[in-house]
Amino acid sequence: MAKYKIAWLPGDGIGKEVLEAAKIVLDRIALDAEYIHGDIGWDFWCKEGDAFPQRTIDLLKNVNAAMFGAITSKPVKEAEKELIPSLQGKGLIYRSPIVRMRQLFDLYNCLRPCKAYPGNPINFKEGIDLVMFRENTEDLYAGVEFAPVPAEVRDVLSKVSKPFAPFKDLPSEDYAISCKINTRKGSERIVRAAFDFARKFNRKKVTVIHKANVVRATDGLFLEMARKVAKDFPEIKMDDANIDAMTMWILKNPFNYDVLVAPNLYGDIISDLCAQLIGGLGFGCSGNIGTKLAVFEPTHGSAPKYAGQYKCNPIATILAVKMMLDWLGEADKGTRLEKAVAAVIREGKVRTYDMGGSNKTLEMAEEIAKKL
Ligand code: NAI
Ligand code: MG
Repeated sequence: MAKYKIAWLPGDGIGKEVLEAAKIVLDRIALDAEYIHGDIGWDFWCKEGDAFPQRTIDLLKNVNAAMFGAITSKPVKEAEKELIPSLQGKGLIYRSPIVRMRQLFDLYNCLRPCKAYPGNPINFKEGIDLVMFRENTEDLYAGVEFAPVPAEVRDVLSKVSKPFAPFKDLPSEDYAISCKINTRKGSERIVRAAFDFARKFNRKKVTVIHKANVVRATDGLFLEMARKVAKDFPEIKMDDANIDAMTMWILKNPFNYDVLVAPNLYGDIISDLCAQLIGGLGFGCSGNIGTKLAVFEPTHGSAPKYAGQYKCNPIATILAVKMMLDWLGEADKGTRLEKAVAAVIREGKVRTYDMGGSNKTLEMAEEIAKKL
């Protein structure tokens, strides 16, 4: 029996192509694993009315880790129309499988390292090495939303939001509400993950991102918990900044930052910004980490306009494989893989279109595999 069971979730579009590339390097590095395919994504929504079928949820309960490609999502109104005719009109509601997966398996830590590998022609600047910790289960992604706003909610709001309630006389279909929900536990554990990482890897500073001057209740609580956790790590500096200012400061001087931690939505925004600093979405890798399960993926989506062309960059996904190897306790293999990626980038002989080259997805993977 293999040492590890890995769920293999290609999803849609280029998700399938980049996972094919990931398999090339995993086979070469000879991880003692069994890879078990799981259905996920748009096709399953269209055919079955569920983009994340129960059989895939059950699979994830019985594996050590998962590799996930990417899925296509569409706005709820369009989603209904793409269902096969026998499922239309049944009131099925499209929900993002990745957001569901994060919440169902409590994958609270979205870890996104952003390192500029030397010689990458599309690095913003050489030497950038930031690590983002994004809270992954709550905040504006809590999924508590109203459109139109039901009478009970309107009633409660009219009582509790006095005197400022510009919406109170509007008809319920003329506004919408998405709840930002942050908990002490959720805030504390993501900040602790960031500080633990800083301690383990000898990082000097953790920057907490928020908007506590305006979004006082939720971001205030996040910042309060961050200050509390920081006391347990006296050797690591903590600072904090507003999300808007951070986008400017990170661009202006990325070398002022080291480890970053943020509630869900701000983390989403900042991690795309950081990915762009190190060559764009072809380089942004991500781990969704819980206590029992971790799911690794590139941060990019299914890139429908390139699907089927095998031209996208698999490096983000291959770096996600490196993260999975580290998480499984196979750090030697992880380090070997990262060195192989770095060598291919440095040599510059094989480059995908985003790097200014014309090599295909699987050629990049083969070149990396050759160095292993
Ligand atoms: P996207 O990330 O799929 O692609 C945006 C653009 O980034 C592409 O057109 C391409 O120019 C570039 N790009 C992305 N990955 C690349 C790679 N590996 N190599 C080179 N260039 C790359 O985002 P988009 O177009 O906004 O969304 C497409 C679909 O993906 C949507 O349905 C969206 O909902 C979904 N999505 C899924 C995610 C996931 O599965 N975790 C994350 C983000 C979007
Ligand atoms: Mg995103």
